[in-house]
Amino acid sequence: MTVSSATTERAGPGPDRLDERIAEQEAAFLRRQPRSAELVARACRSLAGGATSSWQIAEPQAVWLTHGAGSKVYDVDGTEYVDLHGGYGVSLVGHAHPAVVRAVTERVARGTHFAQPTEDAVVVAEELARRFGLPLWRFGNSGTEATMDAVHLMRAATGRDLVVKVEGCYHGHHDSVEVSVLPEADEAGPADRPTAVPGNTGIPQAVVDLVAVVGFNDVSAVARVLDEHPGQVAGMIVEPVMMNAGIIPPDPGYLEAVRDLLHEHGALLAFDEVKTGLTVGPSGATGALGVRPDIVCLAKALGGGIPVAAVGGTDEVMGLIADGTYEQVGTFNGNPLSMAAARAVLLEALTPEAYAHVDRLRAHLHARVTDVLATHGLPWHVVTIGAKGCISFLDRPVRNLRDFHDVDARLGHLHWLVQHNGGVFLPPWGKVEQWLLSVQHQQEDADRFVANVETFARLLEA
Ligand SMILES: Cc1ncc(COP(=O)(O)O)c(C=O)c1O
Repeated sequence: MTVSSATTERAGPGPDRLDERIAEQEAAFLRRQPRSAELVARACRSLAGGATSSWQIAEPQAVWLTHGAGSKVYDVDGTEYVDLHGGYGVSLVGHAHPAVVRAVTERVARGTHFAQPTEDAVVVAEELARRFGLPLWRFGNSGTEATMDAVHLMRAATGRDLVVKVEGCYHGHHDSVEVSVLPEADEAGPADRPTAVPGNTGIPQAVVDLVAVVGFNDVSAVARVLDEHPGQVAGMIVEPVMMNAGIIPPDPGYLEAVRDLLHEHGALLAFDEVKTGLTVGPSGATGALGVRPDIVCLAKALGGGIPVAAVGGTDEVMGLIADGTYEQVGTFNGNPLSMAAARAVLLEALTPEAYAHVDRLRAHLHARVTDVLATHGLPWHVVTIGAKGCISFLDRPVRNLRDFHDVDARLGHLHWLVQHNGGVFLPPWGKVEQWLLSVQHQQEDADRFVANVETFARLLEA
C-alpha cells in the first residue's frame, strides 16, 4: 500500500470558485451527451429513476454505454473513454478479455444453467483455496449474497445474534449490514461509540439493534463491544482495506488485533473482500496483509464481468454447510457460465505477469499524480494498492469515517467531471470511490488520467 502527499502551504480552492467550476463542467458534460439524455428521458417511463441501479444515476445524469474493449468503454454518443470506473471494481481483466470471451462462448454453446454443479466449480474453488488459504468455498451471484452468507454463518457457528460492523464500510444491501454505511457527521454520534444508523429506508430497527458499530482502526472499540456484550457477539465483518470511503488502509497490526480479540471471545472475523479480493493482489487483502480471517467474501472482479460471488472459510465454519447446519442455497449458485468465466479469470487472465504489469502501472500513476499535486501546491494524498487508487482530497491521511467526513465532496465530483470530459471514465461519487486499473491498460491510458489531473489542478487555480 502506498500513501504519499505533496507538502504545500496552499489551503486549496475557495468554496465559490469550486461551485462555479462544477457548474461549467456539468454544462460541458451535458452538451457532450444528448443521446444519453434522450435515453434517460425514455427510460424514466419504464425503469424506476431512469436507470437499472440507483448508483448508476449520478449528477448531472446517468451515462449510457454501448460497449467496452480492452481498457476502453464507449458511450451512446460515440465517445471513447479510458475506463477506470471498471464497473464499480469489476473489470480487473478489462473488457472482452480473450480468455473470458473464449470460455464464455464455449459455455454458452453447451448450455448455461442446470442448477447442478459442473467441473469448473471445483477448479475455481481449488484455486481460491490455494490463493486465500481457506479450504472450503461456495458460490453466489453478488457481493450482497456473499456477505449475507458470511453474517448467517457467523451467527450459525456461534449461536449468537450480535454483529460488529465498521462505520463507513459497505457490505451490500441486505438488512444486517445496511447500518452506518455513510452516516452524516451529525447523526453518527461520538467517534469512540458510534450510533448505529440505518443506511437505507426499509431497514427494521430490530435489525439495526443487532449491529454494534465501531470506528475503523479502533481496536479498543471492538474490545469494549465484546466486554459490554459477553457471549452475545457472533463476529465482525470488515473491509480489510476500506474502499467505500476512498481508500482507507488498516493501521499496522489492527486486523490481527481485532481477530485475536474476537477469537478470545469465541467470535469470528469475516473479511469482505468484494472490492479488495483479486484487485489488490492475487490473494486479496488476506494475502497482501498476511492476516487470515475465518471467512472471506468475494464477488466483483471474480467473474470478469459475469455475475458471480464466493464465500470461503475454515473447515470449522464451512463445515456447517457440509453437515447441513446452515443451508447455503441459490438457484444460480455455481452457474456454469459464471464458473467458466471465473475459471478463465483466475487461471488465464490473472497471471503473475499480469499482476506485475498492473503494479508497474500503479507505481507510474502514483508517482505522476503525486508530482502534479506537488507542482500545483495541492495538499492532498495519493493512495494506491494493487489495481486500485484514489486521490484523497484531504491534507492528512484518512484513518476512519470521521476523517473522511472532512473531505469536501465537491472536489471529488469536480475531479470526476473533469476526468469524464477529458475522456477518462471514473466511478461517480468522486470522493467515495476509487479507480481500477486492468490487466489490459497501458501507460498511455494512465497518462490520459494524469493529464486530466493537471487540467483539474489548473482549473482550481484559475
Ligand atoms: C465491499 C463491498 N461489499 C459488498 C458489496 C455488494 O456487492 P454487490 O453490489 O455485488 O451486491 C459491495 C458493492 O459495491 C462492496 O463494495
